[in-house]
Amino acid sequence: MDLGKPADLPYADGMTEDDPSDFYTGLAAEVWRAAHDDADTEAQADFAEEGLGLAPGARVLDVPCGPGRIALALARRGYRVTGVDRNAQFLAELTRAAQGQPHPVQALAVDMTDLPPDIGPFDAALCLGNSLPYLPPDGQAALAAGLARVTADGGRLLLHSELVAECLLPNLEERPWRQVGDIRMLVDNDYDADNGRLVSIYTFQRGTVEERRQLTAWVHTAGDLLRRFATAGFVVEASYGHWDGRPFGYADPMLLAVLVHRPPRRTPRRRPAVAGGAARRAPLGGRGRNR
Ligand SMILES: C[S@@+](CC[C@H](N)C(=O)[O-])C[C@H]1O[C@@H](n2cnc3c(N)ncnc32)[C@H](O)[C@@H]1O
Repeated sequence: MDLGKPADLPYADGMTEDDPSDFYTGLAAEVWRAAHDDADTEAQADFAEEGLGLAPGARVLDVPCGPGRIALALARRGYRVTGVDRNAQFLAELTRAAQGQPHPVQALAVDMTDLPPDIGPFDAALCLGNSLPYLPPDGQAALAAGLARVTADGGRLLLHSELVAECLLPNLEERPWRQVGDIRMLVDNDYDADNGRLVSIYTFQRGTVEERRQLTAWVHTAGDLLRRFATAGFVVEASYGHWDGRPFGYADPMLLAVLVHRPPRRTPRRRPAVAGGAARRAPLGGRGRNR
């Protein structure tokens, strides 16, 4: 079937606000739901389960969870999952889908840059679906700090980004289009080099219905992104360039990084010297030896 060139297609007037949570409504939300079939989602859940080294019944945070495809896949495997997102429609879908499941999922309306400390602790966390680029550098730093507050020491974190400069720029298409079921999605990409952002105008068409959105995503090098998480106490354990497990390299389609939470050890405060003499020490041979 000849779908025509994107340039030939008319655009509707008006666009929604450039907010990543508002973006996922109407046809855009439908495209996201249809973009990953069950096999795709299960393969990503396999990758997460193995990469995060999840022990049976582990507590997992999915941030942002969207409609909960990964959260639900992990819950079906027996993990205790909390999903957070700002999109009310996706959260309601997740809550409905989780009802009656043997391992329910908690769905919370939370901004990922402002994770409340009391939602944790979690044994592991994941940020999938190429969601990191929605956040500017200070937002990514806030997410990293929030994750450090709610992830147990030694807990792992899985990050996914397709807007890593090493991945995006060598492969950047100016006007890609995709057919997803009966919806055609056209994208006009404009790389704003001065600010390291990708400004994209999306047009979704189903029959005569057309919706148009703008979305700004922040481009980061792998090093920049991982350094922000290192500052928050996450050490990189492994990095991959695809779900097939190949090691991460230039021009790969994505960065998948597994990090471990290793908060800096506090140096013990020196005991103040006892006035008039040396600080007392425990006797050699162990405490209470002759008691
Ligand atoms: C592409 S979806 C990915 C969802 C899920 N991780 C997955 O892989 O299916 C991106 C999600 O990010 C959410 N989002 C974007 N910015 C957010 C923020 N600051 N706080 C919470 N959620 C946010 C959107 O509402 C949307 O549900």
